[in-house]
Amino acid sequence: MNNDIERVIYNQQQIDQRVEELAEQLNHDYAGKKNLVVVAVLTGAIMFTMDLYKRLDLYAHIDFVDVSSYQGGTSSTGSVKLLHDLKNDIKGKDVIICEDIVDTGRTLKFLIDLLKGRGANSIKICSIFDKPEGRVVDVHADYVGFDVPNEFLVGYGLDYQGLYRNLPYIGVLKPTVYQKKHD
Ligand code: IMP
Ligand code: MG
Repeated sequence: MNNDIERVIYNQQQIDQRVEELAEQLNHDYAGKKNLVVVAVLTGAIMFTMDLYKRLDLYAHIDFVDVSSYQGGTSSTGSVKLLHDLKNDIKGKDVIICEDIVDTGRTLKFLIDLLKGRGANSIKICSIFDKPEGRVVDVHADYVGFDVPNEFLVGYGLDYQGLYRNLPYIGVLKPTVYQKKHD
């Protein structure tokens, strides 16, 4: 699997370090808050969310949503669907949405609107990666790990056709991989 990577954008150590910094910032900003919910966006944000969540010195619940905007390809389709809803009511809660990457911004716009409509007290976005050049809707992440180039990336939760999420770093696939079929 590692042989399919053309170049590494951020390595494991850089990511670990940055997650630590983000956790410190959240620990500071949310100190004393009692109604916190960390919402992980499945599936890509799992890795980041767990790395971050275990470093939070805060009384925070965790919950999960699954949305889909990509259908297995390498570019956004435009429509966002809710595939799995939160288990708990978020009315009155301070919500931190954890994402793997903000690209067009459609996924987060959809989630922010949804959670606002349900009466969340506050909603902040914490994304390990951000592709500012990909933005189509006006959404910004409050906490960002790294800005990344406007290329299709894999690893640290990001997938290509369901694979490569388990790479501990983020990188660019060799073009030959896109021509090859995985079975
Ligand atoms: P957005 O709705 O366009 O902002 O897309 C956000 C979602 O698209 C992310 O949660 C990812 O799952 C996926 N995505 C965006 N860029 C990439 C990429 O470079 N590689 C893999 N998945 C991506
Ligand atoms: Mg995602």
